[in-house]
This record gives sequence, C-alpha cells and structure tokens, in this order.
Amino acid sequence: MPYHSRPDWQLPEREATPVEIYASRRTFVASLATAGLLPSAAIASTDPAKLTPLKARRTIATSEEPTALSAVASYNNFYEFGLGKDDPARNAHSLKPSPWTLKVGGLVKKPLTIDVDQWIAKAPLEERILRLRCVEGWSMVIPWVGFPMSALIKAVEPLGSAKYVRFTTLADSGQMPGIRFPALDWPYREGLRMDEAMNPLTTLAVGLYGRRLPNQNGAPLRLVVPWKYGFKSIKSIVAVDFVERQPLTSWNQSQPSEYGFFSNVNPDVDHPRWSQATERRIGEFRRRKTLPFNGYGEQVASLYKGMDLQKFF
Ligand code: MTE
Repeated sequence: MPYHSRPDWQLPEREATPVEIYASRRTFVASLATAGLLPSAAIASTDPAKLTPLKARRTIATSEEPTALSAVASYNNFYEFGLGKDDPARNAHSLKPSPWTLKVGGLVKKPLTIDVDQWIAKAPLEERILRLRCVEGWSMVIPWVGFPMSALIKAVEPLGSAKYVRFTTLADSGQMPGIRFPALDWPYREGLRMDEAMNPLTTLAVGLYGRRLPNQNGAPLRLVVPWKYGFKSIKSIVAVDFVERQPLTSWNQSQPSEYGFFSNVNPDVDHPRWSQATERRIGEFRRRKTLPFNGYGEQVASLYKGMDLQKFF
C-alpha cells in the first residue's frame, strides 16, 4: 500500500480530535467512575489516571465503543507478573518503565540505542483506536497512543537481507516476579515478517486513553498488531532486531501445535482446544462473531495471498 494515500480507516486531519479533549470528555471520565471496581492494591500502585498525559492526533478510529479504561487496565495477560488476569495490575508496580533503553539492531545500516522518555517527548504521537482479540476468546477496543512501526524501521535502514523483525521483552526477576516460574522460556519474544512490520496498522504503543501506558499494559513501549491474536502484541520491549530467518517466538516454541508463528485472527481455524468462531467483547453479554483478520482484512489480507492459512496459522 502506498504510504502517501489515506486508507479508509484513517481519519482526515480535520476530523481528528486532540486526544486530551476526547479522553477527558467521554470515555476517560466514564471509565474512571468505574475505577472503584479495581482492586485497591492496583489503584494504589498502578492507577492509570495518575500517568503522564500525552498529546496525540487521532488517525485511526472505529465506530465501536472503546472498552472502559478500568477493564483495559485490570484484565490483562502479562505472565511476567503472574498468570491470573488481575495479577499484572496487582504486581506490575515493581516494573520501572523510566528510564528505559530500547536497542534496535541486527541487519541494519543505522543501529539505534533509544532513551524511550526522550523519544516519546519528541515523536509525533497518534491515537489509534484498534480492536484487540486474544487467542483465549475475549476482545477489547483500545484507544492506543503511539506511532507506526514503519517509522522506526525507516530510521534504522534495514539491509536487504533483513526478512523478519524479532522483539524481546525485559526479563528481570527483580522487577518481574513471574519470571521466577518457567511458564514460558523467558525473555518473552515475538516476531513479524518484514512486510507485516511495515504495514501501516502495526503500531508501537507508548500510551492508552491519552496517557502513558500503565505498567500492566506493557510500559513503556509495546507492540500492537491488531489483525493477529493478542499474544503477538509483545509488551515492555527492550530490543528490536532485524534478522534473516523466522525468529523463535515464545508461544510458538512452547506449544507449536496451538500457537502458530503467524497467528492471524481466523474464525475458520480453531485452537485445538476451543473454537475461534466467536468472542466475548469485554463489557458485553452476548458473544459476537470473530471476523477474519479481526476485521482488518481489507488492509492486510494481501500480505498472505497464496498462503494456505490452515497450514500457516
Ligand atoms: N507480552 C509479554 N511480554 N508477556 C505476556 O504475557 N501477553 C500477551 C500480550 N503481550 C504477554 C505479552 C497476550 S496473551 C495478550 S492477549 C496481550 O498481551 C494482552 O494485552 P493487554 O493486557 O494490554 O490487554
């Protein structure tokens, strides 16, 4: 897709609302009202309302209502802080997201060592409201703040031999109590093919709901790949490496028959232990149908033309 043309999900500048106005006016306030539902330890240690506000221009939207902030910040998967859905909000206060260094290297002309705070202060941030579909069968709509992954890729000038991107999460047992248990082979790692990483929907998020990311959501910097199951959206990234071969990724390595490298949302390919045909949108009662590529087929289906999606799941 040419980068100068505006895809249909991208808002023209005149329709974009500064995120502060939007967030304070509607959902942010509404969701704060329900924040009393959060466990008290979570409020004290990782209250999302106390995080630094970010200025961003909304570029990607959906007609669907965003999931309440109280749910986005309290119902999480972040195994480095425990296996329960409320463990990350309770335990992630021990993560120190600032200062944070991101190393970008491998097969590139211009490797970078980035101070993430400085970068966030300078980067032109976008608000991107995207659906997140977990492989477990639940989903949310999240107003992320961040920028396209392609901006970082262009800055480091990958060599022609770079075919994949590997992402690595911090693994520090002092900050992350969960990594004392071998739930996965730490550090958590994920990967994308180069064309997937360059797709305009692929996002590096530094915030949500108009503020810096809560620790439990992957502070200070995480990936968001909205057409893939949520586990591809790796949190608290310390390294991005450009490599020639398909990298080993944590869930694929742990259970290859259940979690493929591609893991595109696909209602026609069931998980061996459950159906992927429907999902539970957090905050709704009835299950809804899961859409191919999580509803982003128009933007991404061409990346997989000619591939057997039952085999490359
Ligand atoms: N990243 C790391 N480092 N560790 C994890 O356990 N869980 C993944 C993904 N990224 C995970 C991770 C899974 S399974 C999902 S569904 C999403 O994060 C959940 O993101 P959320 O908690 O912000 O909704």
